[in-house]
Amino acid sequence: MIPNNVFNKEAFLGKSFLTLKDFSPEDIISLIDLAEDLRRRKKAGQRPTGCEGKNIALIFEKTSTRTRCSFEVAAADLGMHSTYLDPSASQMGKKESIKDTARVLGRMFDGIEYRGYGQEIVCELAKYAGVPVWNGLTNEYHPTQMLADVLTIRDNFGRIKGINLTYMGDARYNTGNSLMIVCSKLGMNFTCCAPKKYWPNPALITECEVFAKASGAKLKFTEDVMDGTAEANVVYTDVWVSMGEPDEVWAERIRDLEKYRVTIDVMKNASFDSIFLHCLPAFHDVETGIGRQIKAKFGLNEMEVTDQVFEAPFSKVFDEAENRMHTIKAVMYATLTGRVRVTV
Ligand code: CP
Ligand code: NVA
Repeated sequence: MIPNNVFNKEAFLGKSFLTLKDFSPEDIISLIDLAEDLRRRKKAGQRPTGCEGKNIALIFEKTSTRTRCSFEVAAADLGMHSTYLDPSASQMGKKESIKDTARVLGRMFDGIEYRGYGQEIVCELAKYAGVPVWNGLTNEYHPTQMLADVLTIRDNFGRIKGINLTYMGDARYNTGNSLMIVCSKLGMNFTCCAPKKYWPNPALITECEVFAKASGAKLKFTEDVMDGTAEANVVYTDVWVSMGEPDEVWAERIRDLEKYRVTIDVMKNASFDSIFLHCLPAFHDVETGIGRQIKAKFGLNEMEVTDQVFEAPFSKVFDEAENRMHTIKAVMYATLTGRVRVTV
């Protein structure tokens, strides 16, 4: 007999994972607990049961290293098969509507991951697929990233509530928006430290203020780097130009955001125990094609974070990257089985 507390079918079974706005704080924490357990079991060589023989589709309209690999490795660990569809290899959006694609894939697959552009696309897929759809990043949200970030924060501080997280850079996009949501849901204090025009949109701030009221989180918006980072336990940044944006915006972003680069002075101004997080990929040196182009055009060796901070012991970015896989495994396991606890 499987004990009752193994399941939370109401919250998860057959459900899509589109934005954390749709989940209660308790349900988000249960996914993080599940991911931690799955991580421990993987390291112990144990394979959870429940998903064997299932098939998942991975649709990537934008490039990816971590998210794609996380879905593929997690699927393999759970005994599932995955099919990767890149933008040039599928008919979706070009010869076939999202609605039709969803209905076709839903007949063949047990779950579908989508990475791409507008949130409305992943919502449309979820509406018609009849199987769980997982958001692997849209312009607006990056919910699987958030689970990995919160797990990494809990690994480092032993708690979530009351943690001060400061996000520096373009906070209007997927990562900034999603951090504000997860912080306000889970009682972490979120500071957006950026020029005013890069703050999240007012409607989303209003929604998050409601979550924050319930959880006790504080939301703060400031243009002042020293004020915004004082007392931060977590300093977080992301690229200044996101996938899908035109190259022409680089000049403006560099001009607007250079002051908000995460430097060693920023980290010294933060709490004594502060850690640095970044969803990655990061421009912290000139070891990349884009990094070299920016160096040639603007004379910069590093962009949103200095190499010194990126490589410092308080930088937890590779633990965070590993946690992507464990947390994505938790999302698939919970939505495909309704289980929030593993029984081997
Ligand atoms: N952080 C993240 O989503 O990385 P990828 O773009 O490599 O998937
Ligand atoms: N804001 C970034 C996140 C990458 C994981 C982008 O959308 O490109």
